[in-house]
Amino acid sequence: KKILVLHGPNLNLLGTRQPEIYGHETLEDINHGLFEQAALSGWEIACRQSNHEGELIDWIQGARLDGTAAIIINPAAYTHTSVAILDALNAFEGRVIEVHLSNVHQRESFRHRSYVSLRADGVIAGLGSQGYRAALDAVMAAER
Ligand code: DQA
Repeated sequence: KKILVLHGPNLNLLGTRQPEIYGHETLEDINHGLFEQAALSGWEIACRQSNHEGELIDWIQGARLDGTAAIIINPAAYTHTSVAILDALNAFEGRVIEVHLSNVHQRESFRHRSYVSLRADGVIAGLGSQGYRAALDAVMAAER
């Protein structure tokens, strides 16, 4: 009963980065909430952030081997560019939920395409940090 939450590049700046788009909560606030929510249902959760594509890929590969049931991922800008993250997720057999704080479809056209969506079982965008909580509820309900 293990879930991996991955945050991509620049999400370490949450709270101070364009708060009108991404909100005032910090990444630590979000991760703390997810930790509590998972613990209440007896799930183990690991939350990680990286600005480096390869590091995210290494963590996805690690999840294939350590019994992780689901990955919740906000790939941030790599959403729109990374075939390598898509390939890594394709090699992972558990559930994958893609989360975006902002409604990417309302923004620049380069944000409308997501490589990760080709693999994701579900996609949540535009709900702010609530999107992560909804994703976590969904994966815990599915595996219960
Ligand atoms: C984002 C949307 C991406 O287009 C952007 O590059 C991000 C954050 C979001 O959570 O809304 O860094 O994934």
